[in-house]
Amino acid sequence: MSKLIIGNLKMNILSPAQQEQYLSLFKKELTGKKINNCELILCPPAIHLPGFQKAKIKKIILGAQNMFWEEKGSYTGEISPAMLKNFDCAYVILGHSERRRYFCERDEEVNLKVISALKNGLKPVLCVGENGEQKKEGSKVVLQQLENCLANISRGKIENVVICYEPVWAISSNNPDHLPSANDIMSAKLLIRKFLVGKYGVKLAEKVKIIYGGSVSASITKEVCLEPGMDGVLIGRESLAPHEFVKIASLLN
Ligand code: PGA
Repeated sequence: MSKLIIGNLKMNILSPAQQEQYLSLFKKELTGKKINNCELILCPPAIHLPGFQKAKIKKIILGAQNMFWEEKGSYTGEISPAMLKNFDCAYVILGHSERRRYFCERDEEVNLKVISALKNGLKPVLCVGENGEQKKEGSKVVLQQLENCLANISRGKIENVVICYEPVWAISSNNPDHLPSANDIMSAKLLIRKFLVGKYGVKLAEKVKIIYGGSVSASITKEVCLEPGMDGVLIGRESLAPHEFVKIASLLN
């Protein structure tokens, strides 16, 4: 199974000039590199999607950081799944902890978005994970999020969902003590797989990619992805440096 390397550029890249600089650095980094066993996905702020689309960087697949569940209409400030499709997005991150924290997104809304993304041919990257206060009951929190966010997702669609285990307390951390161990990540993966097996059966459950997110960098890629046998990574901060992103991809290739 090819690995997914997903860059969440968050609310960065502030101008057309910065966009150009980022894209040209990215192209340069990829030149001559043989990365055949990974899907490289970049999720820029929506305003940059046309620019990223036009740049047509070989090997780069586009994704979005969020979307609304309705397809069109009077929803000021929102972005529709059809818009994302028309700008060549294949993936959309949903339920990211920053959406939950700053925009009060609840599982119920995330679920509507997952349903709508699948209906519109987008692959949702569903983020689940406990926050610092929920650490002791992490498994319960993750299971509840899965139960709620995957409600009404049929057997025919589940293999298009990517699940990202992203312990909220490990996001954007500079402290190595604020990282889960390879064992913790493997346990979370098994928990998620078991949930999927229970809901969809072994055959379908095995097709779902389960990735890790939270302070991923080249220096810890082995511990957070290779050792626990994850299907890829969701990278925040380090994806702003094309060199680091491509380095992580090379390690997982
Ligand atoms: P980080 O962000 O890599 O900067 O921790 C990951 C994320 O929030 O998706």
